[in-house]
Amino acid sequence: MARIVVVGSISMDQVTVTERRPEPGETVLGRGFEMVPGGKGANQAIAAARAGAEVGFVGAVGNDLFAGRLREVLDAAGVDTTRLRTTDGPSGIATIIVDTSGENSIIVVPGANARLTELTDADLAAIAAADVLLCQLEIPIETVLAAARHARAHDTTVLLNPSPVQWLSPELWACVDIAVVNEGEAEQLGSALEPVAHVVTTRGGAGARYRGPDGEFASPGVTVDVVDTTGAGDTFTGALAAHWHEGPRTALAWAGAAGALATTKLGASASIPHRAEIEHLLARQG
Ligand code: RIB
Repeated sequence: MARIVVVGSISMDQVTVTERRPEPGETVLGRGFEMVPGGKGANQAIAAARAGAEVGFVGAVGNDLFAGRLREVLDAAGVDTTRLRTTDGPSGIATIIVDTSGENSIIVVPGANARLTELTDADLAAIAAADVLLCQLEIPIETVLAAARHARAHDTTVLLNPSPVQWLSPELWACVDIAVVNEGEAEQLGSALEPVAHVVTTRGGAGARYRGPDGEFASPGVTVDVVDTTGAGDTFTGALAAHWHEGPRTALAWAGAAGALATTKLGASASIPHRAEIEHLLARQG
């Protein structure tokens, strides 16, 4: 069983479902509203745990009404929350609009995620003991760099999902073993990805592509009825991390199946499949 430490964000997603997104200055009637725990870090941690890994989470919630529910969702997934801090001020939130095609628009207000500015000795020890460090870019970049540097120094594989995409220093890229990006992010990052040993590019319903020391290959898409794509990339990334030790081909197959299943329900963390569901879909695909 892979041991994974996620250093990342956790937020309360406020999800509005609408026929179509309003134009600037326009008001439209929505179809429904839900609050669902999310944040790329938490989604990926839950996805890795449900796909079969032992997962610890380093992150921060606020001291508001959302904090208890956010902690609870990680606990319920079996993620170790010993290193989840409570900080003064609001938790992170995301405003998400999902249209009837399942596409979304997201605005993230970092809240407590922006206050994850230091790693403790216990955080660093957990990173050093892990097989994989999993990070995204919804927390301060200095924290991501400190975690990645420490992982690199202790032979822990660094998997970075550089989202939301931003410029990153060559020092951080030099610590990254695996990058998971969508096609838009791959285009925006361009040559910055060149030094990364393994690059996995997700292509929505069309599957994913891999390039690395084991060559290049495409992993086919899985056809499902799409309800909401929010968190599908996170689910893909978490499952990939959980199965990376089985080699890129197997890991991409698990990740693709998990990511596809995540699009069939509303809400990021609420839609993440369990190991048995992923296995069932993989078996059906042969
Ligand atoms: O990747 C999906 C996630 O992005 C949502 O859960 C939201 O919180 C934003 O961080």
